[in-house]
Amino acid sequence: VRACDLQGLWRNELGSNMTLLALDMDGTFSGSYHTAVAATDKQILVSPLQGVLQPPGTKGQQPTFGFTVQWQFADSTTVFVGQCFVDRRGKEVLETAWLLREGVPSRRDVWKATRVGTSVFTRVK
Ligand code: BTN
Repeated sequence: VRACDLQGLWRNELGSNMTLLALDMDGTFSGSYHTAVAATDKQILVSPLQGVLQPPGTKGQQPTFGFTVQWQFADSTTVFVGQCFVDRRGKEVLETAWLLREGVPSRRDVWKATRVGTSVFTRVK
């Protein structure tokens, strides 16, 4: 089976789209995230992301990775961790888990500040 390539356009089960750009020499990458849903009523804006791949090069057949999305329309941060899997037919999927930390006004609200979930991305392009 060929190695998984993170670069490209991906979509998850919510209809969110993300573009991952070419890997840097050190296994870091950047991209953009267009979420289909939001916890706020504010207008959704395409937001940048920064990630790392492990192992860093193209050696890993089914590498793990992590990335952070810096939302441009909310005081929240989401981190994703995941792994890319390739099946016999060469179809790639990104199996991920995420944490969303919302900005809350005071420490009394910290108990409700973190959401958690899982997400599966398939390649669009
Ligand atoms: C916010 O509402 O605070 C910012 C947008 C959060 C979107 C979340 S991140 C996890 C989940 N997966 C998505 O594709 N969108 C939501």
